[in-house]
Amino acid sequence: MSLNIEFSDRLKNLPPYLFIEIDKAKRAAVAEGRDVINLGIGDPDYGTPEHIIEAMKVAIADSANHHYAFDAGMPELRQEIATWFQGRFNVGLDVDTEIYPLIGSKEGLAHLPLGIINPKEKVLLTNPAYPAYRPSIEFAGGKIINLPLKAGNGFLPDLKKIAEFKDPKAIVINYPNNPTAATATKEFYTELVELARERGIIIVSDMAYSEVYFDGEKPLSIFEIEGAKEIAIEFHSLSKTYYMTGWRIGWACGNPTLIAALAKVKSNFDSGIFQAVQVAGITALKSDPLVAEDMRTLYQDRRDYLINGLRAIGWKIPPPKATYYVWAKIPKGFSNSMETAKAFLDKADIVVTPGNGFGEQGEGYIRMALTVSKDRINEAVGRLQKIL
Ligand SMILES: Cc1ncc(COP(=O)(O)O)c(C=O)c1O
Repeated sequence: MSLNIEFSDRLKNLPPYLFIEIDKAKRAAVAEGRDVINLGIGDPDYGTPEHIIEAMKVAIADSANHHYAFDAGMPELRQEIATWFQGRFNVGLDVDTEIYPLIGSKEGLAHLPLGIINPKEKVLLTNPAYPAYRPSIEFAGGKIINLPLKAGNGFLPDLKKIAEFKDPKAIVINYPNNPTAATATKEFYTELVELARERGIIIVSDMAYSEVYFDGEKPLSIFEIEGAKEIAIEFHSLSKTYYMTGWRIGWACGNPTLIAALAKVKSNFDSGIFQAVQVAGITALKSDPLVAEDMRTLYQDRRDYLINGLRAIGWKIPPPKATYYVWAKIPKGFSNSMETAKAFLDKADIVVTPGNGFGEQGEGYIRMALTVSKDRINEAVGRLQKIL
């Protein structure tokens, strides 16, 4: 007799994965041997810089790094994070209580709700949003309230609306934003911190793209705002800055109680970051600033290439200020995001991500990633010219 194994209700209750259809079509196109240009991937096409790989080689050969890591990470790593943070944002962090290394920022973002959200408590979540936030809030029993991100408001949530919601426990924000590529202003953060302190709302700020900014406009940390440490936790990542997506290293920082809640959840679920990766992370954070500058130059160049190329064929898109995404209103003649993504794949062998995959407010948009070479961008523009 075979057991009838079913997924848990919490899994069954998750909304369908909207990228499934486009993923299937993409795999079929590749299997047919078509020359597919993939603008759907949020993962850099470059490898990790050599000096970080060299540090890893040394660290991995040292048996002292082969054991269970400290949950809270190596003190040297936390110290290096504090130094980096001070240099980048002019904000001091206590290395023992205000910093917690993570196995990638996604891991921490996914674990945090279990530490701070009780069943039925309300969490304000921007829509569209990076898809990882929703399931972790729902698994913790939280009730999600959508805050639409509209072009007219610079893809920032309307803070006046928050006053309409009774007792929200937390708000999740992400600037520079995936998928809209928007950045937040100082005024926005100041108003948000003031409101959150007044009403006792926890701010969860995801800054995974803090270093992927253009035209010299550095995104702010929420901790540059007076009083933010009373109510905020911020997530950072080495993934995008140092082409380290596969290495799995990032950190949370901010309010000590929020950090302690996350630490307690994690101590029950994982045993820290492989110590050799932590050593490599320290090297990464000590990198010559030119490493991150080169990364920005690369994406800014590609951004300009794509935006100018598309403008030349009649598709005008405002250039993103940060991230390696271009968030574009679907071109004339198409009725929705999925239809556009499908047409691009079927007729031009180009993969883009349909905006509604990031939430219903993303309908009418597609996201293109700048993670392919200028040659491929050029080729993509040429192909689009034929179908638009
Ligand atoms: C907005 C956002 N936050 C967090 C992450 C996770 O980054 P990591 O877990 O590699 O630090 C991503 C990855 O794409 C992202 O787009």
